[in-house]
Order: sequence, then structure tokens, then C-alpha cells
Amino acid sequence: MNIVSDIWIFITAVIGSIAVIAGIISAVIYLAEKASLRRTRAQKTWRIPQTSGIRLIHRVALITGASSGLGAEFARQIDRHPEKYDVNEIWLLARRGDRLEKLADELRIATRVLAVDMTDDAALEGLRLQCEELDKDSDFSIVMLVNCAGFGKSGNSRYVGAEQEAAMVRLNDEAAVKITQFCLPFMRKGARIAEICSVAGFQPIPGLNVYSASKAFLYSYSRALRIELIPSGISVTAVCPYWVRDTEFISVATGEAKHPFLSCRTEKVVTRALSSLRRHHAVSTPSLVSTVDRLFCGLIPDALLARICGLFSLR
Ligand SMILES: NC(=O)c1ccc[n+]([C@@H]2O[C@H](COP(=O)([O-])OP(=O)(O)OC[C@H]3O[C@@H](n4cnc5c(N)ncnc54)[C@H](OP(=O)(O)O)[C@@H]3O)[C@@H](O)[C@H]2O)c1
Repeated sequence: MNIVSDIWIFITAVIGSIAVIAGIISAVIYLAEKASLRRTRAQKTWRIPQTSGIRLIHRVALITGASSGLGAEFARQIDRHPEKYDVNEIWLLARRGDRLEKLADELRIATRVLAVDMTDDAALEGLRLQCEELDKDSDFSIVMLVNCAGFGKSGNSRYVGAEQEAAMVRLNDEAAVKITQFCLPFMRKGARIAEICSVAGFQPIPGLNVYSASKAFLYSYSRALRIELIPSGISVTAVCPYWVRDTEFISVATGEAKHPFLSCRTEKVVTRALSSLRRHHAVSTPSLVSTVDRLFCGLIPDALLARICGLFSLR
């Protein structure tokens, strides 16, 4: 009995020490990252016009998925305080141009409506040409990318079907990477990227299988990209909300208007996400539930998490 308890004490002491040491090292690395990104902000110099003539300055916040939900709310909140983000223009991207026009009419800042399908390579190429033209003729830079375009479908794989699953991966992952790559050449020191991931990416979720996997990809991509971009002074934040009720996401995902327990509101989620973005956080969990979920998922093995999530799956 004594041996068993000694072994138990030894194992917990080793695991506890590893956890504490890893936690301290992570915190030190994280603080160093943030300090380096903050220094970048202080050093930021926008390119000075070369000619004596007047060159327009475009400091663009590009928001994808801006025709509804979180994307539209990001546009509204950035529009309220553009100086906080060094932005003087917002570009709104989604497929429904009429919605974007309506939102653009609401905003006080200069806007550009980009009614394009983000999974369409030809449309992105057209956009690239527009940016290259602007870059030639003016002082152009993308100072913020907020990538909100995304969708999910709930139900087991057989119900959702291969076509919808592939469409989720195409938009939530492939197009997200392409739009990020598209922006990088036009970004300078001090620029910010927000990839809208989800708490769904923290654990495997039966009944939301491909969606949660697609968000796990985006989360992992964002975290690694952040490290790659620190020397360039560009910060990347993975925004991981729990269910948000006043968007179209839940009705698209479940086919029902009913929102899940403890779901939050776009206004609060976006306010917190923007605050994290300004502070160069690596991850933003913009509600108590999402913060608790992140901590919980860091402690529990995936096999158990998948079983627990299976009990609460939507369909
Ligand atoms: N709401 C939630 O509970 C929740 C929770 C966690 C994470 N998220 C994530 O938050 C992000 C924003 O979602 P939301 O809640 O704001 O949902 P939403 O209201 O459905 O917004 C999704 C946006 O994506 C755009 N979009 C869809 N397909 C597109 C395409 N092929 N090309 C360009 N734009 C496209 C839609 O516009 P068009 O249809 O006009 O193209 C719409 O503006 C998503 O990535 C979602 O995964 C949402």
C-alpha cells in the first residue's frame, strides 16, 4: 500500500512539476512576444510619399464575411473608432453585395464593397490586381485583416454529406489561408490579423465533426503563423468564440433559429476580440464559457473530450 501511494506521489509530483515549468516558460515566451509586438507599434512608420504631388493614403481594414453576424459587427465597431486601429478605410467582403452596400451606407468611414465568393480563385486574383494598382498609385497598406467568412453544418457525417463537408474545408481553411496570403504582401509592421476560429477547434465534436476539425486547423494555423510573423511585426490573433446568438451561423448550421444554452451576443464578442487584437493576444476567448472551455480542453485527453461532446451534440 505504501509503495502504491509512493508511486502515486512520485507520478503526480513529476507531472505537476512539468506542468508548472511548462506554464512558466510559456508565460515568459508569451510576454516576450507581446513586448516585441508592442515595440513594433512604437517604431511604426508609414511610407512617406516619394513625390511632391498628393498621394492618397489607404489604411485598409479588410473584413471577410461582413454581410452579417460577427463580420458586420467588426465593421461597425471599427467604424466607431478607426483611429484606434490606424484605419481610414474598411473593405467589406462577402457574396451578398446588397447586404454589404446597406452596411456601407451605415458606416461613416470610406468603404469598398467586395461582393465576391472567397472560394473563387479568379475573384481573389481580381482583388489582387486592384490592390497592386492602388499600391502603385497611392500609399496603400492593409493594416488589419479580420477573417470572419465561415460556416458550419451540424449532424453526423452521413447526414451532412461529402459536398457540404468539402465546402466547409474550402471556406473555413483553404480560403482562409488564401486570403491571409493575399494580404501579407500589402501588410507592414504593426498590421494585425484576426482569424475567427471557434471553441469548436479545441476538441473533436461528434455531430459537428468537420466544422470542429476545420476550426482546429485554423486555430493551429493562426498560432504557428503568429510565430512566423513576429519578426515582421505583424500580429496574429486566433479569436475563439463560443456560440453567438445574433448571427446567421446557428440557423445555417442547425436549420433552426433556436440558440444553444449560454450563447453570447455579437457586440460583446467583437468588443472583446478587438481589445485582444489591440493588445496583440495570441488567442482571444471572448466570453467566460469560451475561456473555461479552453482551459478544460487543455487538461482533458481528446478521447474523453470527444465522448463528453458526443453527449451534448446538436443532432
Ligand atoms: N455564431 C457562432 O455561434 C460562432 C461561434 C464560433 C465561431 N464562429 C465563426 O465566426 C465566423 C463568423 O460567423 P457568424 O457567426 O458571423 O455567421 P454568419 O452570420 O453566418 O456569417 C458568415 C459570413 O460568411 C460569409 N460567407 C459565407 N460563405 C462565403 C463565401 N464563400 N465567400 C465569402 N463570404 C462568405 C457570409 O456572407 P455571404 O453569405 O453574403 O457570402 C456571412 O457574411 C465564422 O467563421 C464562424 O465559423 C461563429
